[in-house]
Amino acid sequence: MNLEALLADRLTAAFAAVAGETVDPVVRQSQHADFQSGAALALARRLGRPPREVATEVAGRADLAGVAAVEVSGPGFLNLTVDDAVLTAAVDALDDDRLGVAPVAAPERIVIDYSGPNAAKELQVGHLRSTIIGDALARLLAWLGHDVLRRNHLGDWGTQFGMLIEHMIDLGGTDAEHSLGDLTDFYRAARRKFDGDTEPSVRSRAVAGRSDGEDFKRRARLRVVALQSGDELTRTLWRRLIEQTERTFLDAYGRLGVTLTMDDFVGESFYQDQLASVLAELDAKGLLVASEGALCVFPDGFAGRDGEPLPLIVRKSDGGFGYAATDLAALRHRVRELGATRLLYVVGAPQRTHFRMVFEVGRLAGWLPDGVTAEHIEFGSILGADGKMFKTRSGDNVRLADLLDEACVRATSPAVGVGAIKYADLSGDRRSDYVFDWDRMLAATGNTGPYLQYAYARIRSIFRQAGPAATGPVVLGHPAERRLALALLGFEPAVTAAAGLREPHRLASYLHDLAVAFTGFYETCPVLRAAGQTRASRLTLADRTARTLALGLSLLGIDLPDEM
Ligand code: ARG
Repeated sequence: MNLEALLADRLTAAFAAVAGETVDPVVRQSQHADFQSGAALALARRLGRPPREVATEVAGRADLAGVAAVEVSGPGFLNLTVDDAVLTAAVDALDDDRLGVAPVAAPERIVIDYSGPNAAKELQVGHLRSTIIGDALARLLAWLGHDVLRRNHLGDWGTQFGMLIEHMIDLGGTDAEHSLGDLTDFYRAARRKFDGDTEPSVRSRAVAGRSDGEDFKRRARLRVVALQSGDELTRTLWRRLIEQTERTFLDAYGRLGVTLTMDDFVGESFYQDQLASVLAELDAKGLLVASEGALCVFPDGFAGRDGEPLPLIVRKSDGGFGYAATDLAALRHRVRELGATRLLYVVGAPQRTHFRMVFEVGRLAGWLPDGVTAEHIEFGSILGADGKMFKTRSGDNVRLADLLDEACVRATSPAVGVGAIKYADLSGDRRSDYVFDWDRMLAATGNTGPYLQYAYARIRSIFRQAGPAATGPVVLGHPAERRLALALLGFEPAVTAAAGLREPHRLASYLHDLAVAFTGFYETCPVLRAAGQTRASRLTLADRTARTLALGLSLLGIDLPDEM
């Protein structure tokens, strides 16, 4: 049961009678009472009346019989104390596997674009946040009953593939399986050759004629043309390269407990044959402008640093299509072919302008009709202890696989290590940067993954001793029992807020508060040593806590060890 909603419901009529219009009572759990509403303060300001007087009138009119007691406090707050019978019944009822949360009344088809690593490179920490946050949102929205389509917008197309394929051929061509073992090194070697940065000995031999670098560059350029025109050998090698990287990504997702599957891999290459028609439609709508050889759209309201109108480049001056064109095609496809009514893009904050422009052009082109929304779910960076971008000591990008290895060594188990990393990412407001700090994220106390996992494991151990049939109806005696009961009822509002605002930290903070309430309860209220009804009731409170932690953490994508 959603007590906030029940109380708000009861107060709405009273507020309407006093205000002469509908007022949202905004009932929230509070430190000062079980629940509090501050809506009389704002209403009083509008009516030009003393706030306490307005609050008292609302309190007098509110029909709260059998639900809660109301009291006016401070400048005009309504403090609500829920009847014990309502509280106990609500906690008793939390025994289904949805913990009383009904699926949404109007499910939407939601496409969530997340992870999006670039092929021929290993997954880097840079894509970690998108992967973790996107997966949590996908789980949460799907659990709420939405029809969620995951899309991994892989960077699997572009001019860099010319150099990569040419390098593959140099390494023995078709027998690429072995040479691609370490993708990062492979990518770096290809890039070095492309940039003409060959070994000194090679360089001295090359002085007389054309350098090897230049020759490689020329071959790489021709290879791009071959790839684009569908040359069979080139396409085969390209496919092999993509498959190899997709496998490494799937490995990483498996270790991370991320729900993306091969079916969700729909990379940039998928949209290539839709780009000409994207261009044609924009042209037919009169949106295209030729600018310095490129074809662009200039949506209103976007300016560069110098104040010049900012173009969204659809076709580059060399005739090629780039990142923006592909995103336009993907947007159109997701709405038109997949029938999405909501598009979420879980991508770092630096791409804010890109997405604003893509959405605006989508709207201008008619690809985002009324009732269809597109949102950039942006997030901040992971920083190192020095406050700069998180890198290895030698200044390289941190490899996800190395990070996961280290997590498993530092923690007692993969579930704890990976859970700590994911929880650290999900527990703060996603828009903020955070410092990657092993000691903090693995700490046994505080707002950490291990603390929540430990609270859960402790309850499991209680039940290993008590046996499952020992629970019984909730009776509230001690204030810590009451606090825990109230905390348990905060699950639905937390889930609703996390999903509605696309802010997983709303759910994480709630789970932490719940674990704190449980710790307080456990320290003051003996469970196994209690007798009769009290013991049975306390076991029910413990059981509901464990269920809530397990469900909540699973919605965030965090595993729970039974023992710690
Ligand atoms: N591959 C891109 C990058 O590494 C991220 C893709 C994000 N999704 C999208 N639809 N643009 O920056």
